[in-house]
Parts: sequence; C-alpha cells; structure tokens
Amino acid sequence: MTASTPTLQVAPMPTVAEIRKDFPILQQEVHGHPLVYLDSTASSQKPVQVIEAMDEYYRTIHANVHRGVHTLSEAATTAYEDARLKVARFINAPSTKEIIFTRNTTEGLNLVAYSWGRANLKPGDEVLITEMEHHSNIVPWQLICEITGATLRYVPITPRGELDYDALSQLLNEKTKVFAFTAMSNVLGTINPVAELVARAHAVGAIAVVDGAQSVPHLKTDVQALDADFLAFSSHKMLGPTGIGVLYGRKEILQAMPPFLGGGDMIREVKLSGSSWNDLPYKFEAGTPAIAEAVGLSVAIDYLNQVGMDWITEHERQITAYAWEQLQQIEGLRILGPDPERRGGLLSFIFGDIHPHDIASILDMQGVAVRAGHHCAQPIHDHYGISASTRASFYIYNSLDEVDRLVAALHQAKDIFSF
Ligand SMILES: Cc1ncc(COP(=O)(O)O)c(C=O)c1O
Repeated sequence: MTASTPTLQVAPMPTVAEIRKDFPILQQEVHGHPLVYLDSTASSQKPVQVIEAMDEYYRTIHANVHRGVHTLSEAATTAYEDARLKVARFINAPSTKEIIFTRNTTEGLNLVAYSWGRANLKPGDEVLITEMEHHSNIVPWQLICEITGATLRYVPITPRGELDYDALSQLLNEKTKVFAFTAMSNVLGTINPVAELVARAHAVGAIAVVDGAQSVPHLKTDVQALDADFLAFSSHKMLGPTGIGVLYGRKEILQAMPPFLGGGDMIREVKLSGSSWNDLPYKFEAGTPAIAEAVGLSVAIDYLNQVGMDWITEHERQITAYAWEQLQQIEGLRILGPDPERRGGLLSFIFGDIHPHDIASILDMQGVAVRAGHHCAQPIHDHYGISASTRASFYIYNSLDEVDRLVAALHQAKDIFSF
C-alpha cells in the first residue's frame, strides 16, 4: 500500500438497539406494553431515512416524470431513474432496461402471466407452480390457463413443508412452458434452491418465474447467478413504501412480449389506426408511476446495503433458531415447515385448539403483533388439514428479548384457554 492510498474505513456492525432508533413506529406502546412487531412478512416497518426522503421529495422536486423539460420534472425523472439503477445493482441485474416498476409482487406476476402467457401458451402446454405458493403466484396462472387452454400443474409439498422433488421430476417435462415458484414460502419459511430449480426449468425449455417477495428483503440476490427469467418483489416488505414493486425480466424475453397495460408513457407513437411501443422498461410502465415511492425504495436499499444483507440474513437466522427452540418447548404448539437451517425468518404454528385469531388477539393485548389467518396461501393450509395458522416473523429490528415476550404471551394464551 502506498502512502497516498486511503485507509479502508470498515463501518462497525450495527446493533439491533441502534437500528431500532431509526424506526419511529417501534418506539410506541400498544395496550400499555412496548410494541413487539413480529409481522414483517406481511409488511416491514420503515426507517426514518425512508420517511424523510419521501417527504423531502414532495417538498422540493415533485413533478411528473419523463414528460417535461422544466427543472422539477428533470429532477423528479433523475430521482426516479436513479432508483431504477439502485434496484438493478441491488439484485445484480445487467441492465436498467430489465427493471420494471410495478405496484407490488402481485402486479409483477400478473404482468408475466398475462403478457407472456397470452402470447406463448396454448392448449397442450403446461404451467407448473407449487402447492406452497402465495395466492398471487396461483390465481394469475389459473386465469391465464383458462384463457389459453393450457393446463396448470402443482408440485406437491412433503409433510416437512418442502417441495417433493420426486414429483417435480415427473411434473417438469417437455410440455412445461413455465415453472413459477416462490424463493421462500411466506407460511412455511422454506427456502427453495432457486438456482437449481431455474436450471431444471431451463433443461426442459421452460421459462423460470421466481416470486422473490420473501427472499429479496432477507437474502442477498443475484439474478445473474440465479439465471432466473423473471423475479418479482415488493418494496413494502424491504423497508420501503407501499405502492411500488419490481419485476426483473430478462431483456430478450421482455422485448418479445406484448404490453400488459396500455396508456401514457408506454407508447412510441399513437395513431388512430394503431400504436407502437416504447423501449424497455417503459413499454411495461403505463401511466404516471409511483415516483415518491421509487425515491423511498431507493433509500430503503441504501439502508439495507449499509447494514449489509449478510448481516441481516445471519441476524434472522439466529433469532429464528432461538424462537424455534423456545416455541418447541411449549406444550401443544406445532410449528409448520422445515427445521431452522432450511427456513427463513418466520414461524407459523398451530397451538392446541385455540383459533389463530384468538391467539393473535391475546398476543396483541400484550403488545405483540403477529398475523393470523391463511396468509394468502390456502392450499398450504389445506395440505395440513387446517384453515388458518398464527405467524411470527422477524426482521432487521427484532431482538431475542422480543422472542421472550412472544413466548410469555403464548403462555398467557395457554392459561386463558387452560389446556
Ligand atoms: C411469497 C409471497 N408472494 C407474493 C406476495 C404478494 O405481495 P404483495 O401483496 O406485495 O403483492 C406475498 C405477500 O405476502 C408473499 O409473501
């Protein structure tokens, strides 16, 4: 190292206590108890940096994007396009043309099903999804199969909550045109081997569509290493605002696809006799986009990068392993899904005969926020012969103490129902 080489400044690892100071919403009490927020799988909380960036955007540079030459419009356009670049780098996409801003994961998956599906599927073709999908990766495929006459098939799950790989080998064949699957189940926590599943799809000539709603916020994502054709995810689950999501798509495939929605911004030219389409990614972004939300998402990515995705994954692994140990010891409680080594930061469970809504209400009285219901994944619950479960999920700002609060509140629920 020469004398002029600057010294590398390595930022110290954050502590959860420091991170929590950035989240105003976590400072409050609920029913007289400090809030324990264990519902980040449904939607994460937002750091003050994201909230202030969106506020600042509206105070200083808001105007519509792409359409004006005035100063504010140019500033808003720059902020919006910078956010796209930030997203591309975050998932290692080769080009910003492959980053389409959507409203959320659901819209991204619908875009692929409708645009790609209508152009490419026909009777005799098969679409393969799995039984562990969120409804947003089931219903669009059901709809498009009805329209095109293609057949929808499902990879079953094992009693441990993992994909049945023997069945997959049978179901994935030369008739399969699309294999769409979640990278991480929002009920079972199962982390699927995305790169391997993508390779298996490609081996039979199918495209691979990955639902990254639960993986991108928690695991370092590299779309080039995964080789996925599409990856959809939502800003609101990764510290960003609601109202914006991302669809990554391989350029060659996106270029060949017809538009999804028609309107302003997505056209090159409109004549009464017909229209032609804008370049990527604008061809798939009809109408005024979520500009302030893109700014918020960009700052959320900065925040995740600063803390470090590896730190986040390891932090959640430790909390989940601890929570797993603690919950296993509660008599009458059954956790759904695989062991901690093969799952992400969430635990869904059933607890005796207590209805999950009752559990969630009792926990709420202790200030502990968990989710109860089918979590938009009814087929998983059908698989286990139940209609609902209770889910505790962990993120960057949760601590082991909060797991202890969850456990204490569950003991209270047990006392109330005295079983
Ligand atoms: C695995 C998975 N896929 C898709 C979605 C849908 O996300 P959104 O409601 O943001 O579109 C969710 C939301 O919980 C999810 O967990």
